[in-house]
Amino acid sequence: MLYNFDEIIDRKNTDTVKYELRNQIFNKSDVLPMWVADMDFKTPDFILQAIRKRAEHEVLGYTLRSENFEQSIINWLKIRHNWHIQKKEIAFAPGVVPGLAMAVLAFTQAGDKIIIQTPVYHPFHSTVKDLGRQLIENELIETDGFYEMDFEKLEKQIDKRTKMLILSNPHNPVGRVWKEDELRKLGEICLKHHILIVSDDIHSDLVFKPHVYTPIASLSEELAMQTISFFAPSKTFNLAGLNTSFAIISNNKLFSKYAVWLENLHLFNGNIFGNIALETAYTNGEKWLIQLLDYLQENIDFVDSFLKKNLPKIKMRKPEGTYLAWLDFRAYQLTQNELNNRLIHQAGLGFNSGEMFGNSGNGFQRINLACSRFVVEDAMEKLRKCENP
Ligand SMILES: Cc1ncc(COP(=O)(O)O)c(C=O)c1O
Repeated sequence: MLYNFDEIIDRKNTDTVKYELRNQIFNKSDVLPMWVADMDFKTPDFILQAIRKRAEHEVLGYTLRSENFEQSIINWLKIRHNWHIQKKEIAFAPGVVPGLAMAVLAFTQAGDKIIIQTPVYHPFHSTVKDLGRQLIENELIETDGFYEMDFEKLEKQIDKRTKMLILSNPHNPVGRVWKEDELRKLGEICLKHHILIVSDDIHSDLVFKPHVYTPIASLSEELAMQTISFFAPSKTFNLAGLNTSFAIISNNKLFSKYAVWLENLHLFNGNIFGNIALETAYTNGEKWLIQLLDYLQENIDFVDSFLKKNLPKIKMRKPEGTYLAWLDFRAYQLTQNELNNRLIHQAGLGFNSGEMFGNSGNGFQRINLACSRFVVEDAMEKLRKCENP
């Protein structure tokens, strides 16, 4: 293996959210942090080198994105996802969540209804509510840890005020990579009721074989006209601190409306290093990504066999995509507070408590496996000791 994902890098004292906020979040400053969705791996050297090279120039003033910024996106989506898009469909976003917020502002009015499929990434909830829209939760259906969309209930929940559906593909936290037929069915319903699909595809590069990521907008011309898809190299290449993302918007009218918000909020500039990092990642990053995926798959396999062998009450369905595992602790019959307290104070583990993703997350924890195998092993041992102190 060319890259060493086993290496443990000390992230303490770098103002890292995952480490520095432990006291605030867990009331304990030394939990093993496996919560925030960034990786503990080194950002790839070839990206760091490109950033250093630019930093050698002594002026860091306002800077345009180069031609290659968009071209690298076009190439990446073609090579990795077999999706052919054009330059004019690419819009900048200073982060995916800010992009989602701009889409909510651009395409809905206060009081409009926006559907999310829970349990789902918590900022979907807060973005909708904080901007004064009505949040409609369409819970996913869970069967033995496998999650599916509830199409029947979805259609029943739709009324004249329903304007948007925010999709997570692959889905954080349940790890589903939605299949083409599921996306087609979802798309049909949204087309029928004129609901704009905002697809958050930030985890789209992190998909394990034999699963295949499909951009919903790629499925038909009609869907392309009624979808906005957000992407970023941030999860894939560990660049979240650079806040550089983009949207694919094929519909001209939607593109212009989105662009107005980007303009009005003066969020179009981005930052020099984010632009360089994106271009470099998408131009040179494929080999690194392939090795990363192998390593993540091994981490997932390790946790799967460890739990089956040592802690069979904790259920986990292997994620099809994302480096996040969704652990089901319901067999212990603890309240969420009891479960959290046990994990934090007895085991010394900092996971994401399941209920933050929606009520159906009660009894669950999300655990971030994008770290050295040694850390994953340590976490599993901590869990085992917690059950059998
Ligand atoms: C589904 C999803 N969307 C968006 C983000 C964050 O995006 P950004 O940092 O670009 O705002 C995350 C990070 O965990 C995520 O899981």
